[in-house]
Amino acid sequence: MKTWHRQLHEDLKNLNEAKLLRRCKSLEFQGRTIRHHDRDLLNLGSNDYLGLANDPRLKDASIAAIRQSGTGAGASRLAGGTTVRHNQLESHFAAFKHAEAALLCPTGYQANLAAITALARKGDLICQDKLNHASMIDAARWSGATVRTFPHKQTAKLARLLEKHKNQSGSDEPTSRRLIITDSVFSMDGDCADLPALCELADCHDAILIVDEAHGTGVLGEHGIGLCEYQNVEHRVDVILSTASKALGGLGGIISSTRSVIETIVNHANPFIYTTAIPPSQIAAITAALDIIHDEPWRRRHLCHLASTVRQQLTECGLITPSTSSWCDVPTPIIPVITGTPESAITLSEQLENRGFYAPAIRPPTVGPGMARIRISLRADLEHADVENLITALHDLRV
Ligand SMILES: Cc1ncc(COP(=O)(O)O)c(C=O)c1O
Repeated sequence: MKTWHRQLHEDLKNLNEAKLLRRCKSLEFQGRTIRHHDRDLLNLGSNDYLGLANDPRLKDASIAAIRQSGTGAGASRLAGGTTVRHNQLESHFAAFKHAEAALLCPTGYQANLAAITALARKGDLICQDKLNHASMIDAARWSGATVRTFPHKQTAKLARLLEKHKNQSGSDEPTSRRLIITDSVFSMDGDCADLPALCELADCHDAILIVDEAHGTGVLGEHGIGLCEYQNVEHRVDVILSTASKALGGLGGIISSTRSVIETIVNHANPFIYTTAIPPSQIAAITAALDIIHDEPWRRRHLCHLASTVRQQLTECGLITPSTSSWCDVPTPIIPVITGTPESAITLSEQLENRGFYAPAIRPPTVGPGMARIRISLRADLEHADVENLITALHDLRV
């Protein structure tokens, strides 16, 4: 065996011994329930918050689009892969987000890479929340800008970073840019950024504020626009990233902003330019999902109600506490139960599976050392009895 291959074996063996080896499970049927090892489990491991990924209207729209336009877009967006459907969806999405323009990328990961690498360059400063999603962290690193990380949601620390950079440039109008980048709903903790405070800082420091609404879009706010709507800062955030892979039940990243930001991304962002356009079937599914988000507000209302119930009851029995970052007064559907070690998270996940729930263990490096957990993702097609059963199970198994 060659040396490099032996090194890989060694690394995988070490991961396995530390209970940190990750493997993709083979599951069947994504919906309210999921099939694993020939058993139907209540699905608490998906980001399909509104239960749309298996909705007949999305499936019919996708199939009809395939019949009409085929399975693939055939080219990158600038080279001929942009169809009327792409343009129509971008206009539709911009209207939904109350933005001037929107841009579709193949995934949310790529949308973050595209937006951040197009707007930040060497010599600029990016300030990021410590718990941002990996796509934002990778994008910041790739941009070549100086990256500074502030402790989770500590806006006072962020203010100091911005102040320090201003002084270093020696001018009130620096040619270099400052960017603040943050998740709206944090993907592993389910807590939320303080967007009004970040808008204030961005205004005060002439900084660009980029917010990743992957877990807010379709879920939060009166119209499902996201945390920006919930916290009433829709018109104050410069760039918003959404993904169709979560509440919208499909696949695709969408950037919404001003026309000049979108054109800058189209002209400068490799992750947008050098990849094949999203296929017509996905565009049709996203369009159908947006219609449902508009027509069926009960889905997000019911979801928020379930989330409030679970949060309140887990707080009462001490499984969520104000001292853990998972504590949050916004009813987001992501609810972590922190167990500490990787072993304890795996054990709790297995015990829940024995009781009929699928709730995956999340371990380092996805979360910090000592912060392993199970991550419960609620969905709008659950009933109150389902969450009552879950709470009872967690109570019985309490860690
Ligand atoms: C906060 C956040 N941003 C971006 C992404 C990436 O989105 P996508 O799955 O569409 O690539 C995810 C999902 O994994 C996420 O949780």
